[in-house]
Amino acid sequence: MPTSLKSTTRLHNGVEMPWFGLGVYKVKEGSEVIESVKAAIKNGYRSIDTAAIYENEEGVGQAIRESGVPREELFITSKVWNSDQGYESTLQAYETSLKKLGLEYLDLYLIHWPGKDKYKETWKALEKLYKEGRVRAIGVSNFHIHHLEELLKEAEIKPMVNQVEYHPHLQQKELLAFCQKEGIQLEAWSPLKQGQLLQDSTLTEIAEKYGKTTAQVILRWDLQTKVVTIPKSIKEQRIIENADIFDFELSQEDMEKIAGLNKDERVGPNPDEFMVGFEE
Ligand SMILES: NC(=O)c1ccc[n+]([C@@H]2O[C@H](COP(=O)([O-])OP(=O)(O)OC[C@H]3O[C@@H](n4cnc5c(N)ncnc54)[C@H](OP(=O)(O)O)[C@@H]3O)[C@@H](O)[C@H]2O)c1
Repeated sequence: MPTSLKSTTRLHNGVEMPWFGLGVYKVKEGSEVIESVKAAIKNGYRSIDTAAIYENEEGVGQAIRESGVPREELFITSKVWNSDQGYESTLQAYETSLKKLGLEYLDLYLIHWPGKDKYKETWKALEKLYKEGRVRAIGVSNFHIHHLEELLKEAEIKPMVNQVEYHPHLQQKELLAFCQKEGIQLEAWSPLKQGQLLQDSTLTEIAEKYGKTTAQVILRWDLQTKVVTIPKSIKEQRIIENADIFDFELSQEDMEKIAGLNKDERVGPNPDEFMVGFEE
């Protein structure tokens, strides 16, 4: 089991990815994102998850520079947005993200959403970036099993990560098993269901028993199900709280109680239906 914020999972290409990181979706460019990322790094976080569409890559980059932590100790993820899918446009989008971040490489670059018919071409661009040593790992996001199966038919390089919505109301058991079989690390987005799970009575009861908060129980459950997690907060106290999950272990009985909460219920769109940015 991971023992600290520095604990990593080894991706199938040997790259070490932290089990825990900070998400910055909907965090405002400028002081809000700069202060959140700096607070996270100061408190031991080493992994930051952004995306071109979040429009805060410049602030993330500034925070990284001001953090004083050497670049090679950090793990930085960004994602190619839907409207940039396609071979040449993805290569261009990567350069734009790097420039905004002020970085020479990313640790992980993801296809943000599958869309319908461009992700194979987009994947070829990610493979090129990877083969040229421009990015340490490549992956996908919001891919169902059928998207992965389709991609794997032609891919030269298997995605190292699949980042999907994952929380006690959306447990993605088949997808998790598929990814584990293929050596693809699953990563949870909206692990707290954007705050909607924090009042759940089963979770609050479990939390009380361990003297932990509901958020900590959920994030600990991510780790015990072997899923990388990246909760978002702009508040330093919560940034600290969320990461304080390495000093307790949920019992088998409590893991089963949480398993019983699944409702296959999303807070975000179903990837099969999400076509924003793909329209001509
Ligand atoms: N690949 C994708 O398509 C995709 C989609 C969505 C998200 N993501 C990534 O996943 C990350 C996490 O997902 P998310 O931001 O959607 O949602 P989330 O992490 O599930 O929840 C964030 C919300 O919970 C609140 N919160 C955080 N910690 C808390 C705590 N300890 N107690 C009470 N409230 C707390 C935050 O408010 P405050 O900020 O006010 O604390 C915020 O409103 C994103 O930031 C992004 O990096 C990826």
